[in-house]
Amino acid sequence: MRFAFFALCLVLPGAQACADVLPTPAPIVADYARILPVVASHGMVVSQEAQASRVGVDILKRGGNAVDAAVATGFALAVTLPRAGNLGGGGFMLVHLAREKKTIAIDYRETAPAGATRDMFLDGKGTFVPEKSQGSGAGVGVPGTVAGLALAHEKYGSGKFTLADLAAPAIRMAREGIEVEPDLAFSLTEVGARIMRYPASRAIFSGADKKPLRAGELLIQRDLAASLERVARDGAVGFYKGETAEKIAAAVRGQGGSMSVQDLADYRAIERAVVHGTYRGHEVVSMPPPSSGGVHIIEILNILEGFPLADLGQNSAATIHLMAEAMKRAYADREIYLGDPDFVHVPVAGLTSKAYAAELRKTISVDRATPADEIAPGMPLPYESDQTTHFSVVDAQGNAVANTYTLNFSYGLGLVAEGTGILLNNELDDFAATRGAPNAFGLLGGDANAPGPRKRPLSSMSPTMVFKNGELEIVTGSPGGSRIITTVLQIVLNIVDHGMNAAEASEAVRVHDQLHPDELRVERGLSIDTIRLLEAKGHRVRLQRSMGSAQTIQRIGGTLYGAADTRQRGTAAIGY
Ligand code: GLY
Repeated sequence: MRFAFFALCLVLPGAQACADVLPTPAPIVADYARILPVVASHGMVVSQEAQASRVGVDILKRGGNAVDAAVATGFALAVTLPRAGNLGGGGFMLVHLAREKKTIAIDYRETAPAGATRDMFLDGKGTFVPEKSQGSGAGVGVPGTVAGLALAHEKYGSGKFTLADLAAPAIRMAREGIEVEPDLAFSLTEVGARIMRYPASRAIFSGADKKPLRAGELLIQRDLAASLERVARDGAVGFYKGETAEKIAAAVRGQGGSMSVQDLADYRAIERAVVHGTYRGHEVVSMPPPSSGGVHIIEILNILEGFPLADLGQNSAATIHLMAEAMKRAYADREIYLGDPDFVHVPVAGLTSKAYAAELRKTISVDRATPADEIAPGMPLPYESDQTTHFSVVDAQGNAVANTYTLNFSYGLGLVAEGTGILLNNELDDFAATRGAPNAFGLLGGDANAPGPRKRPLSSMSPTMVFKNGELEIVTGSPGGSRIITTVLQIVLNIVDHGMNAAEASEAVRVHDQLHPDELRVERGLSIDTIRLLEAKGHRVRLQRSMGSAQTIQRIGGTLYGAADTRQRGTAAIGY
């Protein structure tokens, strides 16, 4: 339709004027689609690992709601995608209840133990020692995943399934073993030395030859099955008290951390109010702090709303320039304002207001990239890791879950707590260890995100939903460290502004600019003409590895369109 309109303009006098009044594109123009999403009429699960997607869809088919399916998928990913699915990490879940027309945010981010201190990752001279937060027990946060899944099940599940029912497929796969797929084999090879240095991890993830398991071999996780069984039998208590808690605390302390059984017993998942925004008549709902994601997605959308992106074109130099400029301003704010809202005041309303966006918009030139040092102090980005994971679920009633959870690095710290099969996170590296010291994602921060007892480190995880006239329209999220925010942003822009379907929105080339280093990071696939135009505006364009692994469901008139990101192997959108 858009093409037909454009063609009409070209044969009429004043074609330029026509371009200015191009209509908002139709949501799915099937005739023009190059890539098609998976279609379903009842329910759908889109995750980074096919067996886990199947587990979730099976629960939906058996009468479970989106939350039941999400809980089962979450447990299954802990078995089938051990580098990011987890019991030993934490995350965020958005739950949308269709009948109540309400969306809840469940914060099950890891917390620092009570023994944490402001200087815990520094040496005697006050210098940041990355090995402490990234490679020792001191970096392990009290895991939140089991508390989060149990809370979601108890409060928002259908009531037709017990926690044991939902953990059963994961327990079976852990006990009987799963065939190692190429993706899993590749991830084990990539991080080999880091996990193989721990005997308890080596015993699970290596074969008879002591080398990382290869594709086609069997991954058996009997201890993990037993840990899951304790949760199935006793609920969250089966994780936070007794054998599992004692073994986790012992493993962390054995590697130099301070975590105690009391820290585990004290852990609570927290329900929080979602952050809301609007974008061109759509309502955007996302994760509040301690995620920075929701705040900054809405801040960037608010800035971009003042520019005609649809007319400027998807991934044109003009559009990418404006996106990058808006991103840089949001990342500058991230450094200063964001942290754990239970400890610091985060000005969410101010950062997500249209008036603030209008002020920021005035500082953007359409012709020239603002140099980074004119916006904020430096934020180097030296390191890449995409080892968080997201899944999206929608059921036949229109209930939905967007869940992102993580161990931080691939396989977290790499340490399995002896006798539990549970890989432990190194999430406390997401704190700002000290001013000027970047974390593993190159992100800086200040006092708002300083380590401290029982604090939750700032995150970029951004499970997000979009609504139109109160009806669920998009459920999405992604891994990707600091690039999560901009990956989710581009899914929304590609669908809302550029009329793409979920699959096209997901496949489109992604760009990212987080202010420092002063560079515009792009994936392969932008034309050289576009890159030259961006360079002419002053952007330092850098081709780097692909970004994110978005798992998206679009809902139009009750029909579900799913897209599992093809940037990672093994992802699957499955519906019925
Ligand atoms: N560990 C990455 C994040 O939470 O943003």
